[in-house]
Amino acid sequence: TISCFLGCSAEFYVIDDRIGLGREFDGIGGLSGGGATSRLLVNYEEPYRSHILDFLFKPNFGASLHILKVEIGGDAQTTDGTEPSHMHSKDEGNFFRGYEWWLMKEAKKRNPNIKLIGLPWAFPGWVGEGTQWPYFFPNVTADYVVTWIYGAKQHHNLEIDYIGIWNEKKYDPVYIKVKKKKLDLYSVHYPGTKTVKEALLTEKKLWSSEDYSTFDDDIGAGCWARILNQNYVNGRMTSTISWNLIASYYENLSFGGDGLMTADEPWSGHYVVESPIWMTAHTTQFTQPGWFYLQTVGNLTHGGSYVALTDRKGNLTVVIQTMTHNHSQCIRPPLPHFDVSPQIATFQLKGSFAHLTDLQVWYSKLDFETKKDTLFQRSSPIKVYNGSFTLKLDVDEVYTITTVNTGQKGTYPESPNSRPFPKNYSDDFTIDNPPFSEAPYFADQTGVFEYFRNSTDNGSHAFTLRQVVTERPVTWARDADQTISIIGDYSWTDLNVSCDVLIETPVTGGVFLAARIDQGGESVREAKGVFYWIYANGTYKVTNDIGGQRVLAEGLSGTREGVWYTLTLRIKGYFATGMLNGYPLWKNAVVLEPKNGWTALGTLSFEYAQFDNFEVNAE
Ligand code: GAL
Repeated sequence: TISCFLGCSAEFYVIDDRIGLGREFDGIGGLSGGGATSRLLVNYEEPYRSHILDFLFKPNFGASLHILKVEIGGDAQTTDGTEPSHMHSKDEGNFFRGYEWWLMKEAKKRNPNIKLIGLPWAFPGWVGEGTQWPYFFPNVTADYVVTWIYGAKQHHNLEIDYIGIWNEKKYDPVYIKVKKKKLDLYSVHYPGTKTVKEALLTEKKLWSSEDYSTFDDDIGAGCWARILNQNYVNGRMTSTISWNLIASYYENLSFGGDGLMTADEPWSGHYVVESPIWMTAHTTQFTQPGWFYLQTVGNLTHGGSYVALTDRKGNLTVVIQTMTHNHSQCIRPPLPHFDVSPQIATFQLKGSFAHLTDLQVWYSKLDFETKKDTLFQRSSPIKVYNGSFTLKLDVDEVYTITTVNTGQKGTYPESPNSRPFPKNYSDDFTIDNPPFSEAPYFADQTGVFEYFRNSTDNGSHAFTLRQVVTERPVTWARDADQTISIIGDYSWTDLNVSCDVLIETPVTGGVFLAARIDQGGESVREAKGVFYWIYANGTYKVTNDIGGQRVLAEGLSGTREGVWYTLTLRIKGYFATGMLNGYPLWKNAVVLEPKNGWTALGTLSFEYAQFDNFEVNAE
């Protein structure tokens, strides 16, 4: 018990189910995609990859998520890259592209009860029949999405629990009716913990189906702990889903590091279990979808909030958070000012909980002064006296007080040390039955690059990487008019990069090899760098931008479609030189900007083209 002297008084809060329960709890989740946020995760070697997956999904271990939401890949840029569609064209289907199927299966393996959600951001061009609109042909769009759902079942034995409409774009009532008779729930993104009155009055389920998007340091953890609690207290939202699940994309892409944890170094195996994982555990390890919130939830007198949930079989979980304003700001919306100060809080248990005698305690403190956090630590159980217990709450803390005694702070040996992307790297794309359709570390920013078995070539180019998106998708972001896949280290300056390339389109076709690419993600259209292009019409160009407006050199190359060429690009300081099949084609093009960036390959338009024997040697 805590004695209270002059200047301090305990405030009382009642936890009671006699007045009836609140809303049904639907779970806490993470979002893979929107887009390509798990891209680098798949390339981790074992055992690290399994360790990471355990920290995300394994019950009673880490974040122990209740929900996994994934993007239904649409062949288009959706924030940190493109995710491949299960139907690049109308008359084909392939349910083994990308990594979302794999991720859903890994999640289910660990937690068979995890709920799965699919949501499209973009659609392949054919779905819009050449328009940028997916609702002109609602049957086509509905069939396309339903095919994904059936594919999940048929090829992966995955049951999809929820399907969304179109991420953060307009909905269409006709489409909704074609797809399904009615809407089950309303969900919002980044609600700032608030709900409008009209939504509450519908009595439908309310979710924050995308939230957080904050760098995963302690402020991110503060944001996440606060909204997990307040989305119900303030907004009666019964599920909160983090964008994103795990920051497994090159950090210099859009919204770098906005995951529950970071794993963006598959080449080293290094990953970090960041504090948001443990903020999640405070709720997820002691509740399940299907539990109910009590009506007795609310704000604390001196700042912070508490929620209480029950399984209606006698279990009780209370989660209390006291995050201060400056230590819990999320990326959006702006957070109005509030004060939090140390306080003493007494909770009185009534109704079904009046008889409880002792409760488990889990404690976290984000310590911004000493930087020595306490994260998800089990403390000695609390004795309940006369149906009440008292806590001395400091700022930036989370407590879980619960009857559930299965919680666990999972651990694994430290991951390997952080190392930069290897300076000397090559890939000949020769692999039979690849486990994934994408080659390691290549991160598509417009278009889709897949392993390809080139059956017309029995020689050295039988296995290649092929760009396969041949018309502009119904986009979600501003995809480039060219296709591009990036790879390497953003800090690379001077280097040699070479690649064998095959243009497939006569006359108008073209491909490039590039270095010092300064941006991708949502600003891929503005990507600058040194782009070395060859065209099917017998010419070459060197440009400073992906759009090809700033020409550094140009001339004749004698190149055409259907012939393999080796492109080599050398950059040192302000000068770039290019070779074709080992012979100099142009030299000393002056490159003032950018000073550094990734390497990349790509095509002039949405066209087929192949790549082989990629090799980079950076200084
Ligand atoms: C959301 C979007 C995500 C991602 C995120 C970044 O609006 O749905 O895909 O872009 O913003 O904060």
